[in-house]
Parts: sequence; C-alpha cells; structure tokens
Amino acid sequence: MGFTHRQLFQKHMAPTSDAPLALEIKSAEHIYLTDVDDKKYIDLISGIAVSNVGHRNPEVVQAIKDQLDQYMHLMVYGEYIQSPQVLLAEALVKSTNTSSLNQVYFTNSGTEAVEGAMKLAKRYTKRREIIACHNAYHGATQGALSLAGDEQFKNSFRPLLPDVRHIQHGNLDDLNQITIKTAAIFIEIVGGEAGVRSASKAYFQALRARCTEVGCLLILDEIQTGFGRTGTFWAFQAMDIVPDVLLSAKGMGGGMPIGAFLANESLMQTLSYAPVLGHITTFGGHPVSCAASLATLNYIQNNRLLDQIEEKHQLFKELLIHPIIKDFRGVGLMIAVEMQDFKTVKAVIDTCILNGLITDWFLFCDNSLRIAPPLVITLDEIKMACNILLQAMDKVYKS
Ligand SMILES: Cc1ncc(COP(=O)(O)O)c(C=O)c1O
Repeated sequence: MGFTHRQLFQKHMAPTSDAPLALEIKSAEHIYLTDVDDKKYIDLISGIAVSNVGHRNPEVVQAIKDQLDQYMHLMVYGEYIQSPQVLLAEALVKSTNTSSLNQVYFTNSGTEAVEGAMKLAKRYTKRREIIACHNAYHGATQGALSLAGDEQFKNSFRPLLPDVRHIQHGNLDDLNQITIKTAAIFIEIVGGEAGVRSASKAYFQALRARCTEVGCLLILDEIQTGFGRTGTFWAFQAMDIVPDVLLSAKGMGGGMPIGAFLANESLMQTLSYAPVLGHITTFGGHPVSCAASLATLNYIQNNRLLDQIEEKHQLFKELLIHPIIKDFRGVGLMIAVEMQDFKTVKAVIDTCILNGLITDWFLFCDNSLRIAPPLVITLDEIKMACNILLQAMDKVYKS
C-alpha cells in the first residue's frame, strides 16, 4: 500500500521548521481554502500577502488558460518579444503614475528582484555600501539575507555581503547615515515582517531628499505592500515620493510566481553592458505568470478594489476590540494585532485554525497576529472572520 500524502510530506518534503501547519488543502476559491476532510477555512493571510484578488480569481484563471493555449516558456529572459511580458510591462509602468519608472525587469520572485536591484545599484553608482532597516526582511538568498535586520536570522550563514549597514525605520536622525558612500537604501513604506510598522510622510520625503542629495538610490521594496495591499496601488503613492527603483512580487502574480524591479531606462541600461548580461534569468517573466499578473492588475483597477480598502480596514478596527489586544497597527489590509507575548498570539492562532480561520505571526514580531486577507474579502466576511478571532481571543483570555 502506498503512503498517504501526509506521510509523503513528512518523509520527502524538506522542512522549514519543526512545526509545519501541515493542512492538506484540496481546493481554494475566493477567500476560502478547503481541506481533504471538506473543512473550510477563511484565509486571513493570503499565503502570505499573495492572493490579493482571491484564490483562483476567475479572470486570472482564464488569462492563464488563454496563455497556455498560445505558448509557455520560449527563451531566456530578454531575447524574444513576448506579448504577455510587454503588455504587463506597459501596465506596470502606467500603474506607477510616474514618468521615471519606465522600464521593467521581470524576475521569478521577490528575492530575485532584490538581488537584481542590488546589482543595479552597485553597477550604476559604482559604490559598495548598502543600507537597510533593522527588523526588515527582503528575501532569503545570501545577498537579500545580508539586508535582513535580524542578527539571529542570518548569523548561521555568515560570511554574507560586506558593507551593509542598518538604520531605524522612521528615524529622521538615522538618515545622516546615508552618505556619498551609499549605493542604495532598501526600505519598505510599511515594514511587513517587522510587524507592520509605518512611518510618516515627512520621514519618507526627508529620506527621498537625503538620497537625492548624496546620490544614493532609493529602492522601495513593495513586494508585500504593492498591488493594492495598503489602499493605493503602490504604497509610495500615499507618500508623494518617487523611488529610483521599485520592487514587486507576491500579490503581483495573482497566485503565480513572478517578481519585478522597475527603474528609469538610464539605470536599467547599465545591466546590458560592461558586463553584457548584467543580470540574467531563465524563467523570469514567464509568459503564463505575466498573463496572470496583467489579469490581476486589471482586476484590481476595473473592480475599483482600492476604493474599498479603507472601509474594510475600519471595519476590522471597529470590530477587533478585546482586552487581550494591546495594539492595532496597520495600513489598508496589512494589519498587525499585538498581544502580550508570543504564547498568547500562538494560542489564539491555534484556536482560530481549529475554528476554520488561518492567520499567523510575523518573522521579526512574534507578539502580533497577522491580518492580510485577499483584498476581495467582503464586509460580511470580515464580520465572520472577526467573530472567529474574537471567540478565540475570549477562549485564550479566559484560560
Ligand atoms: C518585503 C519583502 N521583500 C522580499 C520578500 C521575498 O520575496 P520572495 O519570498 O518572493 O522571494 C518578502 C517575502 O516575504 C517580503 O515580505
């Protein structure tokens, strides 16, 4: 007799922790996952910050099917003219409402977008130093990991990249650490894995001014915040600044793997000579992923999803009132609910999962519970989700 899928998971799937959730999902639709026992779960984290337009969004599924009927992989990135790539590039450039972010380099993932942008910054500025923020996460390869602002997370993998410094997200004084030696700063408008930490418009404008003053590239990591998560299509659009480089992934693919970095052509050209092929990738900008991404972007815009985000945010805020909650942070549908400690958060999460709702905590903030549902969640579904959350909080609070 063969093994069950659960047994195969334990035997042959490389683990990332000693306590995987190990839910066995047979289907997914809108904000719901269904397991092999027909138990339905509300997905309140979009696995993670990916399924912005819902699981198996019909328009995304149709775009994928249409593209499958045309072609899949043809050639390594950047050689052939492929309609899903060029149409997506045009739509992404338009979505920024800037004239400067006018070229796109497609990648396989967020991490690869970070890697490409780091190389672009070094190549363009001819400088070595890179700055990132304490408690930030930008990816898991050794370059991107060097930017991680958590020593414990990266210590076992040293040596990592030299000349990386860290500053405090939102701290105006720290901007002085950005100097004429700095090639780039990588920063999120809202620090995701730090536990949803935002900073003021004044801070981002001062950051933009400082980068311009010293010739350092401002690289905004919108891998988690982009594609509408915070209520504007890109989070930087609420700050009245324009980055030199914009990073995207996660929600960008509507459930398919894809990432990108956007910059002005004057920067991007530098990856094409001295050396030629400054960044290359076989599958980056896969045509099926690009078709899915374009359908995702169109879905967000055509259905005016952004107009509903603030109301949805406010509903979570109004409903999530409980003595167990110490703080409610967030922008749009990127929310953190802080409790006393990890033990409390974990007990609430475990109870929620038992009761059919999936949530988790943050890489560098384990006393807070993550709320990042598909943006298509309805007001009634938010009420349903908050009921489950509050019941779980009650149970943990009383025990
Ligand atoms: C802000 C941010 N940057 C980069 C990444 C890495 O993206 P990926 O997992 O697609 O490589 C993540 C993933 O969580 C992220 O949240």
